[in-house]
Amino acid sequence: MTELAIAFDRVRLHLGGVPIYDALSFDVRAGEFVCLLGPSGCGKSTALRVIGDLLPVQDGEVLVEGRNPSAAWDRLAFVFQSPRLLPWKDALDNAAFGLEMRISDMSPTERRTRAKWQLERMGLGSDIHKMPIMLSGGERQRVAIARALALDPDIILMDEPFSALDPNTRQRLRQQLVDLWQETGRTILFVTHDVDEALYLADRVIVLSPKPARVVRVIPLSAARPRDIEADENLRQARRDMLQLFDTTATQLQEDVQ
Ligand SMILES: Nc1ncnc2c1ncn2[C@@H]1O[C@H](COP(=O)(O)OP(=O)(O)OP(=O)(O)O)[C@@H](O)[C@H]1O
Ligand SMILES: [Mg+2]
Repeated sequence: MTELAIAFDRVRLHLGGVPIYDALSFDVRAGEFVCLLGPSGCGKSTALRVIGDLLPVQDGEVLVEGRNPSAAWDRLAFVFQSPRLLPWKDALDNAAFGLEMRISDMSPTERRTRAKWQLERMGLGSDIHKMPIMLSGGERQRVAIARALALDPDIILMDEPFSALDPNTRQRLRQQLVDLWQETGRTILFVTHDVDEALYLADRVIVLSPKPARVVRVIPLSAARPRDIEADENLRQARRDMLQLFDTTATQLQEDVQ
């Protein structure tokens, strides 16, 4: 049996009286790269908060490595849409900050050694003493990724981490992420509303409807990496399917509103 990293089983969640999920079910296998794709406001970031034990659900079950999120949060690391660096700490101390928060008895030397290694991996070996203000947007985001990886998590939760970057930097970081995932075998759950990003990255794409979110389609992608969407008919077909799903759900939403 394949080990599950994350499982949502008929999860119900209402926020401020609004149903976000009525009975949402999906799972992510250990070592898998899954993209959660869906329109703005459908509950993608909320799903990451639930997995990270930042938000309780009202019904159904959420399991992380077979445990309640409250027992598994230390196996996770988050990368948010904006890097959220501390402006008074340099790149090295920012990258070490997650360890400082999570593993209080680790020595500062050990924390810095781990953080430095991750920064080097992200191509920032010569920038470790720069303050955030001296770094470009892409460099800051790479510090945030290094901070997450320094925790040595089993599962990395990423919430549109590249959306604020220019197209070249975005493409480079996507490729670095795929390399890193292939090297380390970690589980990645990556939130996006960009169809091509999902096609480039994922083993499986879980497409969500507008809220209350349900899974409208799960699309497995087996193309070898690095991927060239234009050159691969299967990926182009998957792109057409996903765009059509978005069209259909948007039309349904308009009809519901009228
Ligand atoms: N604390 C809260 N109280 C009330 N409603 C909330 C709360 N947090 C989130 N919501 C609502 O839940 C819905 C889902 O929010 P979420 O941030 O998960 O969307 P998303 O899919 O990540 O969207 P986007 O792609 O725009 O980031 C939104 O309609 C949002 O307004
Ligand atoms: Mg969001």
